Amino acid sequence: MIPRHIAFVMDGNGRWAQARGLERAEGYKHGLEALMRVVNRLEQLKVETVSVFAFSTENVARPSEEKAAIFEQVIKFNKTYRGTLRVLYVGDIDSLDEDAAESVEEIERRTATNRGTTLNIALNYGARADIAHAAKLAADVGIFTDEEFENSLAFAGAPPLDALVRTGGEKRLSNFMLYEAAYAELFFLDKLWPDMGADDVDDLMKEYALRVRKFGK
Ligand code: FPP
Repeated sequence: MIPRHIAFVMDGNGRWAQARGLERAEGYKHGLEALMRVVNRLEQLKVETVSVFAFSTENVARPSEEKAAIFEQVIKFNKTYRGTLRVLYVGDIDSLDEDAAESVEEIERRTATNRGTTLNIALNYGARADIAHAAKLAADVGIFTDEEFENSLAFAGAPPLDALVRTGGEKRLSNFMLYEAAYAELFFLDKLWPDMGADDVDDLMKEYALRVRKFGK
């Protein structure tokens, strides 16, 4: 069984660069290349949706040169990507710098009719704030069904999350897709994100196929 929807916490970019005596910014550049290898393989395997954590609301506290390095890669991708993915952004895009926000709008428009895998990029996103926002809408409206609540979440419309992968050795979710991950299969890899490639995707798919999913039953 191939998952319909798989998510990645792309951790270990800074450490990858530092281990090579490089600036942390280099780690994000290689991180974007790894993302392309991973998503291209998932697209070949016909995975419907891939969601990745590019920048959390908590990452705002990082040094400004590091934030600039992450956004440089995001903007580069937005301006240059010409493949078959349908790219969607999730998170508070309105509060980004004009250049970043415009590039987001541009790639979403350019890829809107693409028929390949959907790539959701979480940028300026935090799961708790997302859930609190949906709860506030529920309170404002009064009567609210589970379905309506889910339609108010940032990932509304995506298939149920089947698998969530974190690279870089840490075993936590770090405020990513907390609601959606309820029955997702979790994978924690020691490998640093820039080292990820098509073979790692194939290994993950094999391990996913062995998992017995019970959904609480
Ligand atoms: C955590 O690794 C990763 C991030 C904060 C962002 C990752 C972003 C990219 C790879 C660019 C992606 C581009 C697009 C278009 C989605 P870390 O650097 O905090 O790792 P560390 O634990 O080694 O410090």
